[in-house]
Amino acid sequence: MWKIDHPTGKRRVIVTKELPGERWREILRAADCRIEVCQSRNILSEMEIRQHIGNRCDGAIGQLTELWGEVLFSALKNAGGVVYSNYAVGYNNVDVASATKYGIAVGNTPGVLTETTAEMAVALTFAAARRVVEADSYVRSGQFTGWQPDLFLGKRLYRKTVGVIGAGRIGSAYAKMMVEGFKMNLIYHNPAPNAALEAYLKHYTDFRHAQGDDYPTFRYAGSIDEVLAQADVISLHCPLNDATHHLLNAERLAQMKPNAILINTSRGAVIDERALVNHCRCHPDFRVGLDVFEDEPRLTPGLAELPNVTIVPHIASASRWAREGMATLAATNVAAILRGFPVWNQEDMSPFEGDNPPHAAPSIVNAVELGLLS
Ligand code: GLV
Ligand code: GLV
Repeated sequence: MWKIDHPTGKRRVIVTKELPGERWREILRAADCRIEVCQSRNILSEMEIRQHIGNRCDGAIGQLTELWGEVLFSALKNAGGVVYSNYAVGYNNVDVASATKYGIAVGNTPGVLTETTAEMAVALTFAAARRVVEADSYVRSGQFTGWQPDLFLGKRLYRKTVGVIGAGRIGSAYAKMMVEGFKMNLIYHNPAPNAALEAYLKHYTDFRHAQGDDYPTFRYAGSIDEVLAQADVISLHCPLNDATHHLLNAERLAQMKPNAILINTSRGAVIDERALVNHCRCHPDFRVGLDVFEDEPRLTPGLAELPNVTIVPHIASASRWAREGMATLAATNVAAILRGFPVWNQEDMSPFEGDNPPHAAPSIVNAVELGLLS
């Protein structure tokens, strides 16, 4: 079940799923790692991973479907390990405090999946607005008997308001796509205003105004409630943590326009999925596009039967380019820590995509706590 690459490597790194591309292997081989990659497509249990860590393991690359906490980090520490990288930008599956306690650096893979993920949020937005999936099923099931003036009437997004909750890298990229591409007015909420996003949008809207157009506009909202009440489309781009768990509950869903569109490419548990099923049943003109759900891969009962919900299986970051880039970053995190290189944690990941990557770890989330920042 575990395939071994570069068996003579002095360091031992385990990778709990096969990853796309070749570059990541080259990076680990160059760091003299023996690479052990699990070939199973099943989600590994904590016990299986712990067994494979064994009594000698220098580093690990794991998946968002695995729970990396006290049990695995203490096992990794006892096996001589010093680094773990999640193959994801999110790390809600990782107990960073316990990794820090054992002196284990925790990496993630931001930057390379920004546009890819935002593009999926755009795809889901239009799939929902124009009822693409419903219409596709209609045609395939032989129900289309000819053009009709009122067949699958949907929503025009031009000059409507898009609401973004969480304006980090992905939320900002999505906001720009919707504002520039589709001339939607933006209202966004974030713990604090995003100065870089606002500076960008100011230039863009000034340019539009110079042409005599008073749209699109953009505005920071101090509360989520304002976004919910005003937006025609709402897209979630916040991390999952204690503060955002069930952020969209029954009460908040009820604040949205009855014909709004809700998009989630962040983490499923940001929405109370039972409340969502009820809400969609009561509001047939409310439309939803989900890339993630609360208890993946299980769907909350009722969700699959709702025609106003479009669901894809957690593939927002799944362009070949992004998934190969994520593998490169995860391997670079692990290799750099093993080789004693510093941590950069900068916004721009492009140096790590080139042929001569820097001698640094691109993204270690507990770098400050561990004193690793260069
Ligand atoms: C995918 O969901 C990721 O966090 O990269
Ligand atoms: C639609 O196909 C149109 O021509 O208006």
